Amino acid sequence: MKKQSYYISTPIYYVNGAPHLGHAYTSTAADALARWNRLEGHNVFFLTGTDEHGQKVEAAARAAGIDPQEFTDRVSADFQDMARVMNISNDDFIRTTEARHKKSAQALWAKLQESGAIYLGKYEGWYAVRDEAFYDEEETTVKPDGTRVATASGAEVKWVVEPSYFFKLSAFQDKLLAHYEANPGFIAPQAKRNEVVSFVKSGLRDLSISRTSFSWGIPVPGDERHVMYVWLDALQNYLTACGYPEMTGPRAHFWPASLHLVGKEIIRFHAVYWPAFLMAAGMDLPQRVFSHGWWTVEGEKMSKSLGNFIDVRPLVAEFGLDQVRYFLLREVPFGNDGDFSRKALIGRINADLANGLGNLAQRTLSFIAKNAGGAVPPKGELHEADHVLLALADELPEKVRAAMERIAFHEALNEIWRVIAAADAYIDHQAPWSLRKTDTARMNTVLYTLCAVLRVLGVVLQPFMPEAMGKLLDYLAVGEDRSLAALDAPLAEGTPLPTPSGLFPRVVEAG
Ligand code: ME8
Ligand code: MG
Repeated sequence: MKKQSYYISTPIYYVNGAPHLGHAYTSTAADALARWNRLEGHNVFFLTGTDEHGQKVEAAARAAGIDPQEFTDRVSADFQDMARVMNISNDDFIRTTEARHKKSAQALWAKLQESGAIYLGKYEGWYAVRDEAFYDEEETTVKPDGTRVATASGAEVKWVVEPSYFFKLSAFQDKLLAHYEANPGFIAPQAKRNEVVSFVKSGLRDLSISRTSFSWGIPVPGDERHVMYVWLDALQNYLTACGYPEMTGPRAHFWPASLHLVGKEIIRFHAVYWPAFLMAAGMDLPQRVFSHGWWTVEGEKMSKSLGNFIDVRPLVAEFGLDQVRYFLLREVPFGNDGDFSRKALIGRINADLANGLGNLAQRTLSFIAKNAGGAVPPKGELHEADHVLLALADELPEKVRAAMERIAFHEALNEIWRVIAAADAYIDHQAPWSLRKTDTARMNTVLYTLCAVLRVLGVVLQPFMPEAMGKLLDYLAVGEDRSLAALDAPLAEGTPLPTPSGLFPRVVEAG
């Protein structure tokens, strides 16, 4: 049977500043989906990278007093380091300054031109460098101090007049609406879909797709006074990685992407502009664009002026990698906005990981090491309580699968923690420590049942906490195949178990 393909992307991040919590969030979420699909046995391509052109990056390089290429090399390396620290399992890392991308973006331009979707004109209107976006006057607001900002993002806009190539976006209004209508799952969550549909219904203007007032970008083929608009260049990364324009390499079959995961502020680029470019270029559209919410930090928006950007790397050093990954995916219903605070992070670690899963594993495994011969105990006749708990564990992968398909990490984790709570109640009730003196056969059956449940928990939690669950599965002496399919084989009685140690230490807050 041919393996199902799954292609997931993160946005490519701007290199004007250092990576922070927001970037780590999208990358971790995409990583959990990539790992889940690998567990399912799918053929996965997971892409992330950096967006390195445009006025904003050029300005950041100038402010740093460094040549833009050297500057982007440096910052892109920092994003790659963040991905490494967060244990992001991307299969490729794309940079828009790479030769493969320049070639791909220029090929797209040529294709759009050939299809009659590009014309030369003059742009006169508002532009926000921070958003790298053009705005209609109605989308801007004048603040009391007289500066004009984009209403949605708060980024300052400036009046721009320059010769520009345009993409005939207006010609795609009906086709886009027809596509949204025919593919209700194309944009998620639903509220975002409604926003996009009403934006497109309100009328699309042609889009300026080149700039002449600066030079840090990909030259427009045949007219090198212009550089390509950074968003046209950036969106094309998703096709570059599949080997555009030849589309003959080993990654070509991954197109169209299964999922573009993005933050809510860039949904318009992914759900309006990108599909229109693809339609004009005669390419298939991605299956889905999912936009998640926005993190604040201790109640405040992260901003340069407040200097409150959170780098996740020190948090990982302080609290542990999987603790941070778990928090990000558990704390906020995916799609909603959320707030990061140390208090909330510590609360989650202690309640769910140290007292919850960690305690359950430790109670079971250290008891086996001390009192049950340090091997998977023999399973005797099962009682009703054993059947009930094992059935909950058996049903778990399907429940997690359903939640992951809806990209509802918090629901997947809720289902998992329901089983952890049931196992906790079971161990208290069965009290293997009392059975040790009265009925060792029954004690062994109880411990076997707990090991079987822990194995399921360890397998389905791997996408969220790969390192800690790797350890847990090692402690259960689970072999190399740790996929969902491998759960079909029963846990082998008598397998010697290594000495376990704690998975999630309790965090004690000083002061
Ligand atoms: O927009 N909360 O790059 P970018 C949650 N280069 N997620 C956040 C966040 C926050 N506070 N801050 C950032 C760009 N993100 C373009 C993308 S794609 C072809 C080009 C995450 O560096 C979120 O995923 O501004 C958001 O969409 C992305 O980082 C924006 O990163
Ligand atoms: Mg941004």
